[in-house]
Amino acid sequence: MQDKDNPRSGYNNVLQQDTSSAASLLTSTKDILTSLDLSAPLVKLAEALGPFIRVDAVSLKLNNLTEELLLLKRGDTFKQEIIYGSRITASGSFASEAMLSNSPSILHEIAANTQFSFPSYVAEEKFQSLVALPLTSGTRQTGILTIYLKESADVSSDVLAIVSIVANVTATAVENTQLVSRIEKNYFSTVEALTAAIEAKDAYTRGHSKRVTQFAITLAERFGVSETDIRNLQYGATLHDIGKIGISGKILNKNGRLTEAEYEVIKKHPVIGERIIERVDFLQGARPIVRGHHERFDGTGYPDGLRDEEIPFLARISAVVDFFDALTSDRPYRRAYSAEQALLMVRESIGREFDPVVAREFLEMGPVLAAAYQEAPVPVLEI
Ligand SMILES: [Fe+2]
Repeated sequence: MQDKDNPRSGYNNVLQQDTSSAASLLTSTKDILTSLDLSAPLVKLAEALGPFIRVDAVSLKLNNLTEELLLLKRGDTFKQEIIYGSRITASGSFASEAMLSNSPSILHEIAANTQFSFPSYVAEEKFQSLVALPLTSGTRQTGILTIYLKESADVSSDVLAIVSIVANVTATAVENTQLVSRIEKNYFSTVEALTAAIEAKDAYTRGHSKRVTQFAITLAERFGVSETDIRNLQYGATLHDIGKIGISGKILNKNGRLTEAEYEVIKKHPVIGERIIERVDFLQGARPIVRGHHERFDGTGYPDGLRDEEIPFLARISAVVDFFDALTSDRPYRRAYSAEQALLMVRESIGREFDPVVAREFLEMGPVLAAAYQEAPVPVLEI
């Protein structure tokens, strides 16, 4: 006999009925908790609930988030579409009423309901019903999760109990993600300040890291790399020259060509840079970029003399953008080249210095680069 007032009783019943769905639910719950991407927990939640309820969309609004995250299902896979700016109004919406009552609520025939207001996507997507789940952490209400269905929601109390539990796990995961990303952001701001300090020390490279990062990301996106790679590039390209902090300002700013010995000192900056970031967890993916951005495709680069595809892909991307930006900046011993001249020099170095595939794609960005570098002139010599 089921105890109607005890949600765990319903949960146990469903688990007994379908152990394989329950096993996959538990695995997904673990995945949700360990996810560090803000929208990933929602995707996993929607997938985990698949055997129990037909989810067409999920929206999540946390009290400490200004935006509502919305995930829509299209076809067979969930599309991570995050709609920013949709707010759950303080009153008058079904979701806010559910929050006030602090219990899961189901609404049928949304379109016929005039009592509540709904976000515009509800009508656009033709959702028929919804399940609103207030989220709690201990005794604190942390937000609301809404599941939208394109069919009538025939949701038993057993399923509602499961959905509530998984929804709360998801909310915790999203809160964790926010916390981690806040810590990363703070740390990264410190590191960025450090980069700015290096660029202040080396007057010829002011703004260099920012431009390299911007165009390295544009180039990488043309290859359709993953979000993780874009993030690694964001960190790696920003920090690619951080090792210069360990190089004497006299050498960095020398007014004339470097001697062989001085050049050998400069060549240490990728290894010094890697050493600076090697103990920072979230910068692990940036290490190959920091260490490998002066490797050359023909194996004559430094510090490891890697060649061809031994050089990590993101380092090959960074190398060509770094070279281009350096040419378009003034140096103590020469004036800046124009973007057109620099692109020509990239073309001439294909196969020797650069990966031909990467460099040719970069050359395709020529008009964009020419316009960008004309609009925002690179730093001028300040001595
Ligand atoms: Fe460098």
